[in-house]
Amino acid sequence: MGDLRPEEGGGGAVSLPVIDLSLGRDEVSRAVLHAGKDIGFFQVINHGVPGDAIRGMEALCEEYFAMPEEDRMGFYSEDNAKANRFFSGSTYDTGGAKLFLFDCLRLSSPFPIDDDSKNNWPHKPQTLRDVVERFTVPTRAMAMELLRLLCEAMGLPSDYFEGGLGTGNMTMTLNRYPACPDPGTMMGLPPHCDRNLLSLLLPSAVPGLQFSHKGKWTDVVTLPNAYIVNFGLPLEVVTNGVLKSIEHRVVTNPTRTRMSVGVFITPTPNCLIGPAEEFLGEENPARYHAVTFNEFYRLHSIVKHGLSSVLTINRHENIGKEML
Ligand code: OGA
Ligand code: NI
Repeated sequence: MGDLRPEEGGGGAVSLPVIDLSLGRDEVSRAVLHAGKDIGFFQVINHGVPGDAIRGMEALCEEYFAMPEEDRMGFYSEDNAKANRFFSGSTYDTGGAKLFLFDCLRLSSPFPIDDDSKNNWPHKPQTLRDVVERFTVPTRAMAMELLRLLCEAMGLPSDYFEGGLGTGNMTMTLNRYPACPDPGTMMGLPPHCDRNLLSLLLPSAVPGLQFSHKGKWTDVVTLPNAYIVNFGLPLEVVTNGVLKSIEHRVVTNPTRTRMSVGVFITPTPNCLIGPAEEFLGEENPARYHAVTFNEFYRLHSIVKHGLSSVLTINRHENIGKEML
């Protein structure tokens, strides 16, 4: 798999396919599947998430990262089994080298969000819990709608992902990628495929996200107020490769700090992640082993970043995309 890595540079920038969710259902459903199969990343507009929920979230992100560091550090943990924590790029095992420059507040909750879950979130800034809830509820609803649209286009029952595959804890992240005076020396996020089912990302105006497109790292360009959508590995596995989970990374910017907010639809821990029989047949043998989501998550974790193979994840090193 190593030689399938995208080449450095040269990919330029691609404006992601735009899906207007206010158009007719059949049209949107076909467009989601087409964009998903085509380049695996797309952007959605007229998505129904209220503008004030988005602006509130953006303001919260600014406010959270503008607080004195000690206000965030109370929540800091390097234990990646912890569902709610603040952590940073130095958490990755890189053999001592500082390679990744980011800070991330990760929050998790069953859905609907309950008070117990919210009590596990930071209480500073004071508005955090409410703003996060006001943003994630409509964003998650939109993500579930995208999954239903995908199902319809693929000929599956529209609630196909509403069993264990899409009903694990909702996860969300507030990310900050500080400016790096020498971007060649540090990345934001290492190349990876997402381990959840579906990812929605609200980017800021500062570029930095790149995805693997025609063998090259390509800058993602989006419209204002659009969400970026991409498929996680479990969706690739369930569809036996019909939908592809595309590798992406974040590069640092020499002068500007980048922020983003992610919302992730996740399977339940014991849900079996394997090719669904709807995607199997004589011509289509299973291309992946079935394992529980727990195990899947562990197998695909970002592992030791040795100095020689600076930016790799074990998917490429050891496991490979086809796991049979
Ligand atoms: C992620 C991710 C990209 C970004 O959180 O999995 O790819 O731009 N984030 O923050
Ligand atoms: Ni990602």
